[in-house]
Amino acid sequence: MDLTYRLDPEVTPTLLDQLTRLWVDVNNAGGAVGFVGTTTYEDVRPDVDRYAESTAAGRHRLLAGFDAEGGLRATAFFGFNAHRLQSHYAWLYTVMVDPALQGGGHGRALLAAVEEHARSLGLEALKLTCRGGLGLERFYASAGYKEVGRVPGGLRVSAEDYRDDIMMWLPLF
Ligand SMILES: CC(C)(COP(=O)(O)OP(=O)(O)OC[C@H]1O[C@@H](n2cnc3c(N)ncnc32)[C@H](O)[C@@H]1OP(=O)(O)O)[C@@H](O)C(=O)NCCC(=O)NCCS
Repeated sequence: MDLTYRLDPEVTPTLLDQLTRLWVDVNNAGGAVGFVGTTTYEDVRPDVDRYAESTAAGRHRLLAGFDAEGGLRATAFFGFNAHRLQSHYAWLYTVMVDPALQGGGHGRALLAAVEEHARSLGLEALKLTCRGGLGLERFYASAGYKEVGRVPGGLRVSAEDYRDDIMMWLPLF
């Protein structure tokens, strides 16, 4: 199945609902997308509403992958830096693919679309952090991102489970 990627899709109630459902599904399938344990629609919806606000304000921009029926199946958010010394790069957040499609090359296609849009936005680099212990740094490394920092135990997943907080950087020139 091919997905169609769109930057800045119209932020409708349907899109916000789809984003919430996708995020819940990805988290509950074991994805490292900012929550811990099993989440519900009600847990995730406030984060989606914050994204709606920040995209309206231009602080974030959504790159969304849709299937042929208009279903939201993959996302990445660009987060722009307010500081003048950091305006040449953006952060990447909430990189996720529908669990039903994971492992089929859609993550790679998502990162290719991210890179293409980042270049056309004039960005010189992308930065992100990811949770250790899941192999995610290998996923990003396979798309050219370099590990540039690691805070040992920087993420507390639970009282007994601390993970490294890994920073990845993709130069675009
Ligand atoms: C991470 C994610 C976006 C990757 O998408 P995907 O469709 O599963 O990935 P692909 O099938 O395109 O795989 C691309 C490459 O990355 C590798 N890869 C994907 N996920 C990986 C993981 N968790 N650990 C190690 N390697 C991984 C694949 O093996 C593949 O490499 P190969 O071509 O050399 O075999 C997807 O699995 C996902 O949404 N995970 C849950 C959410 C999440 O944790 N997001 C990360 C936020 S930092």
